Amino acid sequence: MGAVAYVNGRYLALRQASVNIEDRGFQFGDGIYEVVYVQDGRPVDAALHMARLQRSLREIAILPPLAPNALEQVIREVLRRNRVSTGLVYIQVSRGVAPRQHAFPVSLVRPSLVVTARHIPAPPRDAAAWAGSAITLPDQRWARCDIKSTNLLANVLAKQAAREEGAYEAILYDSAQTITEGASSSVWMVDEHGTLRTRRLGPEILPGCTRAALLEELGSDIAFAESAFTLAELRRAREIFVTSATSFVKPITRLDGAPVGNGGPGLVTTALFDRYLRHMRMA
Ligand code: PDD
Repeated sequence: MGAVAYVNGRYLALRQASVNIEDRGFQFGDGIYEVVYVQDGRPVDAALHMARLQRSLREIAILPPLAPNALEQVIREVLRRNRVSTGLVYIQVSRGVAPRQHAFPVSLVRPSLVVTARHIPAPPRDAAAWAGSAITLPDQRWARCDIKSTNLLANVLAKQAAREEGAYEAILYDSAQTITEGASSSVWMVDEHGTLRTRRLGPEILPGCTRAALLEELGSDIAFAESAFTLAELRRAREIFVTSATSFVKPITRLDGAPVGNGGPGLVTTALFDRYLRHMRMA
């Protein structure tokens, strides 16, 4: 059985699944999406992802294409039809199909809903085996990065620049040289005083579901501050890691070609890597 996609009410062979060329997602990136990791057939942190999906839709005034329980049913069916037990599910909603003009269509248009799933390997059990590197780049995105929009051109260009340097992630900084987030991840660091820090939520960053879940896993044993940090502070960090639905807790052990700390995953990163893997098994 080949891969199957859900497109606007139908389950289609992925090879044959397509959207209309006047879909506003295709023409304007006028849509939103979610990526959810699936472990043992269960979407991890599903409630967080579904809440963020609804919020993204509200923020750009797209009506939900399905009621929440109907969408969950579609997700389950896409996982079942693709036999994905460990992998990811991708959900995209666009404003729908209408003759091209920038403003919203005047007539009521049905939003387009696409759900796909594919297998990806489970994370290794060892933080060191999961470590990667990052480069830093100016953040060239728009002013509403809290919306999980399919408008990802600046993220795509940043990630490609990272790939060309052989790096896993591009960590972005704003015009004040303050770190915002990764091209597709939230950024954390342990500063020179041993305090774990990640930026406070705001329009400059996506409210990461992995970030939210990991905050619940922080015990009193880890000193933590929700506070932004500069590029200079990041360069002095003892530890750096990024989080996302598909990065989990990913140690960043080289930044712009230089080792971070002693060049391996630090104690805080390793502890949180372990805690997040445990959380994924329970969530
Ligand atoms: N990206 N910041 C950005 C810009 C992201 O694109 C992502 C996730 C995150 C982390 O969010 P979460 O923890 O909810 O995955 C932060 C997904 C994985 C993607 O675009 O593929």
